[in-house]
Formats: sequence, structure tokens, C-alpha cells
Amino acid sequence: MAELDRQSRYEAALRQLEAVEQAHVLRFYEELSEASRDRLLDQIESVDWPEVARLVESHVRQKPEPHLPETIEPAPWYPYEPGAEQAQTYHAARARGEALLRDGKVAAFTVAGGQGTRLGWDGPKGTFPATPVRGLPLFGCLAEYLQRAEEKFGAPIPWYVMTSPANDRVTRDFFREHEHFGLDPEQIMFFPQGMLPAFDMATGRALLEAKDRLALSPNGHGGSLKALHASGALEDMRRRGIEQISYTQVDNPLVRMVDPLFLGLHNLEAAPMSSKMLPKAHPYEKVGNLCRADGRVTVIEYSDLPAELAEQRDEDGELRFRAGSIAIHAIERSFVEELNRGGELALPFHRAEKKVPHIDLETGEAIKPEQPNAVKLEMFVFDALPLCENSVIYETDRIDEFAPIKNAEGDDSPATSKRIQAERAARWLERHHVTVPRDRDGELEATLELPQRKAIEPEDLAALELPTRIEAGETRLL
Ligand code: UD1
Repeated sequence: MAELDRQSRYEAALRQLEAVEQAHVLRFYEELSEASRDRLLDQIESVDWPEVARLVESHVRQKPEPHLPETIEPAPWYPYEPGAEQAQTYHAARARGEALLRDGKVAAFTVAGGQGTRLGWDGPKGTFPATPVRGLPLFGCLAEYLQRAEEKFGAPIPWYVMTSPANDRVTRDFFREHEHFGLDPEQIMFFPQGMLPAFDMATGRALLEAKDRLALSPNGHGGSLKALHASGALEDMRRRGIEQISYTQVDNPLVRMVDPLFLGLHNLEAAPMSSKMLPKAHPYEKVGNLCRADGRVTVIEYSDLPAELAEQRDEDGELRFRAGSIAIHAIERSFVEELNRGGELALPFHRAEKKVPHIDLETGEAIKPEQPNAVKLEMFVFDALPLCENSVIYETDRIDEFAPIKNAEGDDSPATSKRIQAERAARWLERHHVTVPRDRDGELEATLELPQRKAIEPEDLAALELPTRIEAGETRLL
């Protein structure tokens, strides 16, 4: 029976692949063990081959022309600190955001399907030890934030975690081993994102990593908007009464998983999708630029923004285009439903040329390319912004909310992240009159960790027992 099953699966796969000229991926099928045959068939069945065929034509056999909008202007944003005329709006927005949380209308959503290759960590990025004293993993930091937020706003906050087929099992096991970091497991939903094959740049053929394996990779964080629908997560949100999705990345231990002020501004303006921004440190900082292009909020990649615009200054000498996207969004559940209506997610694909190890299709020998040999295709979540009629941008603060871990060394590394985490703790302590050791340049001279379980904003420290001073050289868990 199993053999018959396998045979009919094989035949169905072959027919589908032949129709899109990709039947070579079954070239070594006859040589494979039963387990390997099943694995390969599983993979083949997980890929949307008609979509693959369209993409090979539009993005592999040719390079899509980069489309730069006709008019590019800076997009307006709400500043971190409100001016006098905005104080009332901020007050109302915070109250609105808190009410949404209290009424259980907000879900946290973390995209954690990326491969994390730059960090060189052998495991899902969320399992990486991130904090300066306890070495709490990234997932733990996010979970502690939610625990405190649930306590503060008095309602459960469902948490959706997007994994990939490659790290889904390990991620779930990790949460189980850590007893879900104190959260209710019923409130955490995992689902894997879609995958796409890497294609040979010259022929458009899907590459094989081994005789029984396609060279698959995740279809980009934009794939999350499709996976939310395909996995049933959107339906689950609807059942739970969720209206707003608070979208964040797994790599930032200081991210406000649900920020009442931001969610409130987004809701007051009835925006389908909104974003946080950070003022760029210099014209070419490697973050997307939140602009207004052809009348809509749009992210223009740092590599695509013309230099003359990137370097323009306003009358105060500030960069005119300074709104850097840090991949934090508020998204209406109904907007994601709208995007998926008709079964096709209307986001563009971006082409990247990469070195992808694969096997020779004639000999089965492993090939490790020295030059980019393959095309990978990804969707980006921010490409949904121009599909919105209105969209709020809200500024945040680097020390308060942005300490990403992306690279093993240098910028955005574990070392820089830990420094920012400790600096945030120091600033919050100083606001509560704790003396913190600093050198002449103001650099912190202690290693501090303030668990988010206890505090997610400075005001939370008022309820804690605090030391009067921290000594130079001290390592302290507060
Ligand atoms: C991204 C943004 C950049 C922004 C920066 C802020 C893009 C192209 N760039 O850069 O503008 O300034 O974050 O930190 O978006 N992920 C998935 N599935 C995928 C791919 C990625 O879940 O298929 C997740 C990763 O797990 C991670 C996040 O998306 O949580 C970011 O992915 P990454 O590709 O590393 O983007 P960055 O280069 O960090």
C-alpha cells in the first residue's frame, strides 16, 4: 500500500514537474532509498510549481528592470518626543493602544524563518544567547516582554511565530525545553513559511543540494503575509478576536513587541499598515528608506536610493531622507486578508544572485561555486506599504528599541547589542536617580541587565526595589 502510495505520488510529481520543465529534480529518484524518496516527494509537494514557472520566466531568465518611482519625497513621521501641539494626540493614542491590548485585540507576530547565515550560529537565531548577564536567548527576551505586557495590560497576548520548514521542529522543541519561558503554550502558535528553490542562473533549472534534496530557501519575510493565511493563523486570529498584528523580527532583544503608543497612532489614523523608523546615522546606513513615492509610503532599499537624494540635507542640516526602516510594523488583520483574497499574494519578488552549492545533474558530484551561480527570490514585507492608502510612520529611539544581532563581529553584533542593552538599563536607572558609573566620555563602566520580565518601559522601575548606586566594573542583574 505504502509502495502504491509512493508510486502515485511520484507520478503526480513527475507530471507537475514536466509541465513546468523541472522534471530533472527526479533524475536520481530510482537510486534513492525509500526514506529518501519520501523526503524528496515531501519537498516537491511543498513547492508551488506554477508560481515557480512564472518566476523563472520573469526573474531568472531575465533580470527585472529596477523600477524607481517618478516622485520620491521624504515621508512625514510622528517624532519620538511629541511637540507641544502633538501631546494630546499622543495621549489619546497611548490610551487607544492600551485599550486595544486590554480588550485582547492585538497579537504579537515574530518572523523567525530566516537562515541567520551572517551570524554563523548553528540553530534558529531565536535560540542565540543575547543578554549581557544571563545570556538569555532572543526568544526568551521576546517572551519576557510579552509576560510583562500581559501583566501590565491585564489580558493575554497571543504570539504567532513564523519559522521555516528548516527550523520549525527545533524552534518548537526549544520553547518546550524552556517551558515556553513562562508563557501559556496555548497562546503561542508556530507555523512555517513557504520555501522556493534556488535556480541555476544560466538555465533557470531548480538546483539540487543532494540527490534527494532540492536547494530550498525561505521565500523572504514578505512570505509571512502569505503564510499567515496559508497556515490558518489568520483564521485563528479572527476566532480570537484579534484585529491588529504587531510585526517584529527575531533579531532585536529590545524590540517593543507590542507598543501601545505606536499601535494607537496606527489605529487612530485607520492605517492598514504602519512602520517605525529610526533617523539614519549617515546617508548610506544599510537600512531601507521610508519615503513617499508616487503618493504612497514606500521603502526604497539603501542600494536603490539615488546618491543625490541620500545626501540631501534640509535647512537644519539634517538628512532630508533620514527615515530608516527597522522592520517594525503594525498591520490590520483585515488588510492581510485583503492581500490574500483570490489566493495570490500581490507582492513583488526581489532577485538576489548567490553562491549556492549543488550537485551536478549528470554525475551527481558536489559542486561548490566560487562565483554566484544561482538566483534566489524573496518577497519583502514592506512592499505591502504602497498598497495602503494611508500609513503612519512613528520614530523610535536607538537605545530604547534597537539592538539587533545580525553579524558575528562588528556592527549589529552580539557585542554591540549587549552594550546597547546595558546602556538602556543605565538610562532607565538614572531616570530613577540611581548613580551609574560612567567614564569622562559618558561611556557606561558596568555590565547591567534589566530583565524585560520586570520592566518594558522606564516607568516600570518605580515599582522595583532599586540600588542607590552601581559600582564601576560591576556586573549586575537587576
Ligand atoms: C532587515 C531589513 C532592513 C532593516 C533591518 C532592521 C530587508 C531587506 N531589510 O535587514 O531594511 O533595516 O532588517 O533590522 O528586509 N526572515 C524570515 N524569513 C525569510 C527571511 C527573513 O522570517 O525568508 C526574518 C529573519 O528571521 C529576521 C528578519 O526576517 O527576523 C530579517 O531578515 P534579514 O534577511 O536578516 O534582513 P536584514 O538584512 O537584517
